[in-house]
Amino acid sequence: MNQDEMKRAVAAAAIEEVKNSILDGEIIGIGTGSTANHFIDLLADYKQDIRGTVASSEASANRLRGHGIEVLDLNSTGSIAVYVDGADESNERLELIKGGGAALTREKIVAAASQRFICIADESKLVNQLGAFPLPVEVIPMARSYVARELVKLGGNPVYREGVTTDNGNIILDVYDFMIATPMKTEEQINNITGVVCNGLFALRPADVLLLGTANGVKTLKP
Ligand code: 5RP
Repeated sequence: MNQDEMKRAVAAAAIEEVKNSILDGEIIGIGTGSTANHFIDLLADYKQDIRGTVASSEASANRLRGHGIEVLDLNSTGSIAVYVDGADESNERLELIKGGGAALTREKIVAAASQRFICIADESKLVNQLGAFPLPVEVIPMARSYVARELVKLGGNPVYREGVTTDNGNIILDVYDFMIATPMKTEEQINNITGVVCNGLFALRPADVLLLGTANGVKTLKP
């Protein structure tokens, strides 16, 4: 099985995980990225059953609408039953790095508003320690240099992601060379830098389940 086949396999496993929520007419939170795209494409088979979805990016909203799946405003839905999204890295506690697709802020909002967060990823994403993948930080544009200096003080090497504007009109700094021993603490420290909108550590609100695509099939990990 190649990486894309593993992503499709975990997306199919996630459909099984959320089928009851779909059939019960609950609202499904939808992530962003190539693994989430597989989930969206498979969800299209249930579009008649779905009450609605909340998307974590304009890209996912467009893909959902392209399939005829309703996309709702989070302000009108209340709490979401379940959120399904990919990740750039996960450790065994299901603390994540996300934001490779620059959608981290809306992803974190939808995850926070959801009762259950199912993460779907291929086996390359499971790591012992977070940080080999550069940590994305969404920043208000005028604060870019200031925030970069503060991130250097925390031990990282921030690099401006050229040519990228987030759905919220902000920029992304990717923090390299940043091995993250205490993800919750680091998440809080970065949140406390003025000018930071959000960082890609999902440790304060980790995933509840990780469906991991491996050469031997889909494994289910819980913290
Ligand atoms: C987007 C994300 C994605 O979930 C993450 O980048 C994983 O992407 P993919 O499923 O394409 O490997 O956080 O902001």
